[in-house]
Amino acid sequence: MVEKRIDELIKIINKANYEYYTLDNPSITDQEYDRYMQELQRLEEENPSLKREDSPTVRVGGEVIDSFKKVTHEIPMLSLGNVFNESEIIQFDERIKKVVKNPQYVCELKIDGLSVSLLYKNGRLVRAATRGDGITGEDITHNARTIKSIPLTLKQNIDIEVRGEIYMSKDAFNKLNKNGENFANPRNAAAGSVRQLDSKVAASRNLDCFIYHLPDPEDYNIYTHEDALRFMKELGFTTNPNNKKVNDLNEMLDYINYWTENRPNLPYEIDGIVIKVNDLNDQQKLGFTARNPKWATAYKFPAEEVLTKVKDIIFTVGRTGQVTPSADLEPVRVMGSVIRRATLHNEDYVVSKDIRVGDVVSIKKAGDVIPEVVKVIKERRDGSEQKFQMTDVCPICHEPLSRNEQEAAYYCLNPHCDAKWQEKLIHFTSRKAMNIIGFGDRIIEDFYNLGYLKDYADFYDLKDHKTELMELEGFGGKSVDNLLEEIEKSKNNSLERLLFGISIRHIGEKTADILARNFKNIDNLMNASFEDISVIKDIGGIIAKSVIDYFNDEHNVAVINKLKKHQVNMTYLKESFAQETFFTNKIFVLTGSLNNFTRDEAKAKIEALGGICTSSVSKKTDIVIAGVEAGSKLKKAHDLGITIWDESTLINELSKY
Ligand code: IVH
Repeated sequence: MVEKRIDELIKIINKANYEYYTLDNPSITDQEYDRYMQELQRLEEENPSLKREDSPTVRVGGEVIDSFKKVTHEIPMLSLGNVFNESEIIQFDERIKKVVKNPQYVCELKIDGLSVSLLYKNGRLVRAATRGDGITGEDITHNARTIKSIPLTLKQNIDIEVRGEIYMSKDAFNKLNKNGENFANPRNAAAGSVRQLDSKVAASRNLDCFIYHLPDPEDYNIYTHEDALRFMKELGFTTNPNNKKVNDLNEMLDYINYWTENRPNLPYEIDGIVIKVNDLNDQQKLGFTARNPKWATAYKFPAEEVLTKVKDIIFTVGRTGQVTPSADLEPVRVMGSVIRRATLHNEDYVVSKDIRVGDVVSIKKAGDVIPEVVKVIKERRDGSEQKFQMTDVCPICHEPLSRNEQEAAYYCLNPHCDAKWQEKLIHFTSRKAMNIIGFGDRIIEDFYNLGYLKDYADFYDLKDHKTELMELEGFGGKSVDNLLEEIEKSKNNSLERLLFGISIRHIGEKTADILARNFKNIDNLMNASFEDISVIKDIGGIIAKSVIDYFNDEHNVAVINKLKKHQVNMTYLKESFAQETFFTNKIFVLTGSLNNFTRDEAKAKIEALGGICTSSVSKKTDIVIAGVEAGSKLKKAHDLGITIWDESTLINELSKY
């Protein structure tokens, strides 16, 4: 009897949610909805054994986790390339037309929130994850379950992954900040809310979600993005009602102009327009770059300019020792975020714009770009402004600075300057360098000040200080374990990450890659002459000299030797096999979990031998590697008669090279 009523109530509430969020057409009042929810909650409290896992009462939160689990995205979560003006939009359309005749596009609002992947098994929500670095994200299922526009159960019992944006409406954001929180913008508030361990907090934040991407449409007879949106809506997801198919460039520009003007009337914030090629076959033809799909782009709204006052000009020390002036500003809101700092680049920049402490200036911020001072409003001066004077000593170690005339830059040359070392250590862990997830700037500063971190090799000794680390405030056993695990994992990085990470002057991400590709291992690079390095295409004398200088320094060599002792990989793993191998040009799919390496490590090893790893099984797949609990991909491989390897076969084949 009670069970039947519970089922009935769940049906009513799910229907009401679908009508409200997906169809935007409610048939019951908010009061009726609340009454049904209260009745359901009461029945579940009285009969705990009858509480269903997919009950809408989980929306009120309650589940608390200790730490965020890592999640691997089988299909990487890519971000979009950007265009900023009409001529770049036209160029995008022209690029597409080189591959596709008369393309149709879907235009969508670019919701300013954070992307999420939702995984359903048998029609039930089983996992929600953040994008993270695109390959590894964080499990936020407990919080996603509290978001009413994310269905807990779909209208069909299928296995599916969809992607979309979690966001906070302008209303919810204003209420939250009125209640004492101090988030800079709705995006930060949404991100802060999904990163809560206690789902009650997320539940109280009134988050929402629009779904806009079906990463693996293969199994559902879907041929266009428009179909995918319709299909996802039918399943119960909320898609944005303003998505629109357009037939040509003119219609696309009309859509962009319309929303540029009408953006303030939307109940949530958007930061641009997303343009996607509609036909999925065409999308496949166009393919991807390393980071973005070529079949889509994001038009970003122009940067907003606002006025504020320069309270002070301060100096910061970067990892190369460069001392940079920054404006300390009276806080202002620009494009939804509060700005307190703007870079002033270098002495020449400040002098040429004549920026003074006390000036009213106009500042500009575009997207994630660091805010900049555009110009001084000289009419607002009253004579009390102080002319800029570049410092001649390091603000941290107080050693005299040296000016590099070619760069208009000042450097602190003290090799022991604390600020410089802290910045270098922060850079070593950063995403494009050794990618050690879990180290914020503060943690590194603290570890540095406590003496645990002095050079790069010390990261690999942190495991010997586990007990001390666990005693630090804010460090549970789990977070120390996670951090140590990330550090260990970074030992398997390919050489270019290490070369970028150790802060050799003038060696950016791309140069590090060129050096690694050409020299294959660090010993070859360390033994190379100036000529050996400078003859390489895209590498000039400045870089060659910098590399030679770096490895002539005993201290640097000592750190490299310590890293070697820790077995940090120092070879190039990406395509180090010039000769043909069994793996060359074969298409692999990894599924299930492996015991001896992570999926990323296995992928790196296969790719190093010339193999190609993709995420979905098709007729073109040569070999599927099935780990533990391999699921639908393994079945598909069987059905298509594709060769299947277990982990030991993989290890055996890899060991032949
Ligand atoms: S499509 C492969 N559509 O913008 C397709 N993204 O700058 C990937 N975003 O990471 C994304 N609204 O977080 C897409 N309608 C929309 C979007 C959207 C917001 C976000 C998303 C993405 C970022 C790229």
